[in-house]
Amino acid sequence: MYDRRKADDLRQRIDSFDRVDLAMLPTPLVELKNLSRVLDGPRIFMKRDDLTGGITFGGNKTRMLEFRMAPAIQANADIVVSGFGVQSNHARQVAAAARKLGMDVSLILRRTPYESAASIQGNLLIDFLLGAQVQIIDATIEEQAERIVEEVERQKRMGRRPYETGYHDEDLSAVAYVACGLELHEQFDAMGIEPSLLMVASEGATQAGLHLFASHVESSCRIVGVNMVDWVPDIRVRISEIANAAAARLKLPDRVMPEDISNVEFTYRGQAYGIPTEEGLEAIRLVAETEGILLEPVYTAKGMACLIDEIRDGKIRRDESVVFLHTGGLPALFCYADVFQFPKSGLEELDDGGEKQR
Ligand SMILES: Cc1ncc(COP(=O)(O)O)c(C=O)c1O
Repeated sequence: MYDRRKADDLRQRIDSFDRVDLAMLPTPLVELKNLSRVLDGPRIFMKRDDLTGGITFGGNKTRMLEFRMAPAIQANADIVVSGFGVQSNHARQVAAAARKLGMDVSLILRRTPYESAASIQGNLLIDFLLGAQVQIIDATIEEQAERIVEEVERQKRMGRRPYETGYHDEDLSAVAYVACGLELHEQFDAMGIEPSLLMVASEGATQAGLHLFASHVESSCRIVGVNMVDWVPDIRVRISEIANAAAARLKLPDRVMPEDISNVEFTYRGQAYGIPTEEGLEAIRLVAETEGILLEPVYTAKGMACLIDEIRDGKIRRDESVVFLHTGGLPALFCYADVFQFPKSGLEELDDGGEKQR
């Protein structure tokens, strides 16, 4: 249940934003009947934002960059500067968006502890294929921010017109997820369902946008964010700040307080960001084996592990419907092949160049 009049008003506000065309929307909302049966649980739906991808493999950032790249076009930028982790899905989607929009891209990528032995695989491979200028640094987040400022200045000195996108324009990222909330509720209506829970793996902007939407239209669907970052001192403060900045952009009077963000799950992060957990790896296998859908260990697996536990612990009744928002990130999966410890049977022969067979 939600207030459709308020939702219509929001749609008009969102339509007034400048936007570029990057994503394939609306993304599908599909039912995971096999997973539901195996868990003996409620009806489980998945919002496939892993399929936003008109560019590279898509993901939640592609939806966000439709809003965040519009100012770059307006500023007549010719190079986008950005910085995240070495295996960042965010960086990969920024790079792809920049290319699609005819701009160059410079990435300052910070190694997270898990990436000390990073190889050119996954997102980093795609960054290179996109022709991004890549600098990999060992630095704190603060030092990385300084390096990004220096890179913008360096580009200017070379006569370029740089545009920086990153954590400072998360308000527009959240606006994109207000729009996603709207899209989802239209799909709920079309499918005749009223989910009681929407679960998502989020560092801030995705949950902030969904929360703002749900609280503004008084949706009966509870939003739960599964947090996996260890560098944000207080995630509730961060989510409320982003939600308020998005509300200001949308010219809404709504104000979100940190205590309003009650639904953040921290227990699924595990040892640290980027380090897989047992429950997460089990979630990847279970969803792959039952539905033929892939998750990845950094974000979506930890989110799905939380949903699976809530179902197994009986916190969700069988007559409820729940939604898991798949935020993408699949290229990173290929950097984690070893953690699954699949038997190498048959591959040894290939490794020795086929010697044994000769
Ligand atoms: C696959 C995936 N899921 C979730 C997130 C978290 O997104 P947000 O920070 O917008 O909440 C990210 C961030 O990069 C991501 O790559």
